[in-house]
Formats: sequence, C-alpha cells, structure tokens
Amino acid sequence: MSASLEGRRILLIVGGGIAAYKALELIRLLRKSGASVTSVLTEGGAQFVTPLSLQALTETKVYTDLFSLTDESEMGHIRLSRAADLVVVAPATADIMAKMAAGLSGDLAATLLLATDKPVMIAPAMNVRMWRHPATMANIATLAARGVLVVPPGEGEMACGEYGPGRLAEPPAILAAIGAAIEAALGGEGALSGRHALVTSGPTHEPIDPVRYIANRSSGRQGHAIAGALARLGARVTLVSGPVSIPDPPGLSAIHVETAAEMLAACEAALPADIAVCAAAVADWRVEPSPRKLKKSPDGPPDLRLTENPDILATLSKPGPRRPRLVVGFAAETDTVAEFAAAKRRRKGCDWIIANHVGAGSAVMGGAENEITIISGDGAESWPMLPKSEVAARLAARIAAVFS
Ligand code: C5P
Repeated sequence: MSASLEGRRILLIVGGGIAAYKALELIRLLRKSGASVTSVLTEGGAQFVTPLSLQALTETKVYTDLFSLTDESEMGHIRLSRAADLVVVAPATADIMAKMAAGLSGDLAATLLLATDKPVMIAPAMNVRMWRHPATMANIATLAARGVLVVPPGEGEMACGEYGPGRLAEPPAILAAIGAAIEAALGGEGALSGRHALVTSGPTHEPIDPVRYIANRSSGRQGHAIAGALARLGARVTLVSGPVSIPDPPGLSAIHVETAAEMLAACEAALPADIAVCAAAVADWRVEPSPRKLKKSPDGPPDLRLTENPDILATLSKPGPRRPRLVVGFAAETDTVAEFAAAKRRRKGCDWIIANHVGAGSAVMGGAENEITIISGDGAESWPMLPKSEVAARLAARIAAVFS
C-alpha cells in the first residue's frame, strides 16, 4: 500500500470517451493506496460507464447533475469542488479541456473545475487528430500555464483505428502522478516555491512529408532532469518537451510538442514565468512539408528548401514586461566551446549560457553525463563531468540562489 495516499481525498471527474473504463481501474488503485474517491460522471462519461460501477468501486455517492435538488441539499457543488485534496479529470476529453480553458460552467464537471480552489490534474484521451489540433494544443498550453497538471496521453493504436498520441495514460502512471502531485502540494516551502519555471527539452521533429522528418539526437535527459530538479525546489514547472522516449518527471505540467513552431507557441502561452531554461535541441530549419509522401522520381531527388525556424531562446530573452527574470540557454558546440558560447549569450540576449561539448567521440548528447561551463555576465565557471541528474540539481540550486 502506498502510504503517500493514505487518507487523501480525490475528486475524480470521468469524461466521455472509450477510455472511461480505465477510470474504474484508477479508482481501484487509488482505493488500494489508501485514498478515498468521490466521482463525478459527465453526460458523455455515462455513455461508457455506469454510475452504479463507480458507486460500487468508490463506495460513495456518484454525482452527475448540476441541478439535482437532492444533491444540492446534501452537498452543494461549491463544497463538493473543495472537499478534496486533488481534482483529477480522467479521461479528460477535448470538450472538457476547451470548457476549462474558456471558463465555461454549463454542467456539473465544468462548474466544479471552475469553482475549485484545489490543484487540478487532467489525463487527456482522444483521437490523435483531435489531440494534435491547434485548438486542443492551445487549450492544453493555457491550462498548463494556469497550473493544471497534465498527465500526457500515450501513443499507440487507438480504439478508432488510427495510430498516434491520444490514448489515456495507463492507470498506474496516473496513480504515480497523483502521488507526486499530492507530495508536492504537501511538500511545504521550497527555495523556489511561488516561482514559475518554463523548461524546454528534447529535440524537435520537422516533418518533410507524412512519414519523414528532420530530427536530432537529443534525448531530453538534461532538460527533463532540470525541470524535475526545479520542481523539487518548489517551483511550479511547465516543461515543454519535443518527442522523447523518457517519462515526464513527477510534479510538473508537461506539454508535448513536435515542431519548433509548436514549441514556441507552447512557451509563449505558458508565460509569464520567472525562469526560462531552454535546454531543447530545437531544429534550426524546417521544410514546407508535403501533404503526400514524396516519391522517387527519374528527375532526381526532391528539392528540400529549408526555412529558418524561430529562435525560442532569443524570443524569450527579448527585453519587455513578459521577459522571465532569468533566462538560461544551452550551447552544444563541437569546437572552441566557451568562446562560441560567450558570443551566443550576447547574440541571444539570455542571462546564462550552459556550454557543453558534443563533438565526435563525446557521449554527452543522448548520454547520462554532462560536463558544462556556465557563462554569465560575471564570467565562466566549469564543472567536472557529472551525471545529468547532478548537473540538474546543482543548476537548480544555482538558479534558486538568484531568487533567494
Ligand atoms: O543557436 P543554437 O541552436 O546553438 O542555440 C542553442 C540554444 O538556443 C539552446 O538553449 C536552444 O534551446 C536554443 N534554441 C532555441 N530555438 C532555436 C534554436 C535554439 O530556443 N530555434
């Protein structure tokens, strides 16, 4: 039994989607971990699971109706929204997320989400195209920027027959995220509590056609470790990650994107922030993707015209009211690292540049260790080769010192 959820109260909102059946397993796991669960079933959710199943597993009343006289007299919806340690929406449909982003309150679930003063976590599930739609991406960025915790969907074959991201995270992963969120909420004051940190991580993929893309070897390990270390110091962290195969660190909001343009949009939507750490290996160029798979031709190979991508670090570093107080960039160089990095710091307008050597024979990119030099306005400081987790912890402490 997980002691961390003993006595904790979870308000679980079950949205309408084929994945609603997984909410039943989630309730079982939560109860096994010692939590009590009160469930709210949306009209759509009730098409997939019955109130009776939820009631049997939670062993308590299931709420479905905003305008129920009996429910209101027993427990008003405002009290219901606050009588929990954490509000979890699983599955969170595109519709629920849009309502949350817009602040609508036309049904019980939306009203509770607007009225609650407790942390909210969403586990989205939907068709891959609905998930990738700019409207959904914008809504998720808005919600993450407001502090909503996101358990990202998994990738795979979907009930509708399509393939890609959109499958509800598995119940054990949602349980782990709930445990981490509750621990973070109870964690008390950290050196960075009350601060918002934005971290980019991983590569970007720039599509050439529906099956091909330009990518790089970034694993996201260093960026993810920094995001996790900042969260452990109490910061509210928004991690904007390109496609990686490592899990999101616990206790933060992760937004998953593919291209540099999507990464920039997610970062801008996440502002304001006190700290920005741009650890992502953003592709410098993109091509105008072909809507159809490119074919071999007797006329020779396709003419891929490259266009420069927006520079996220330089954009975030621009002076103005939305500029984070501390902006940190990375410089992965293959030659005279420190020299190039210092020039890069000036060019991009950021406060610190973390230089690392990624030349041939270096195991830094994709590896588990990193050897860095921090270049700031005060000069350069080199650290020995350290595990990326240790680099992250020391860097987070160094960042916290700026805000102490
Ligand atoms: O120019 P270069 O790619 O070497 O700069 C690396 C730094 O700039 C990293 O911090 C990276 O995250 C950031 N960057 C960015 N957007 C780009 C290119 C790089 O944020 N389009």
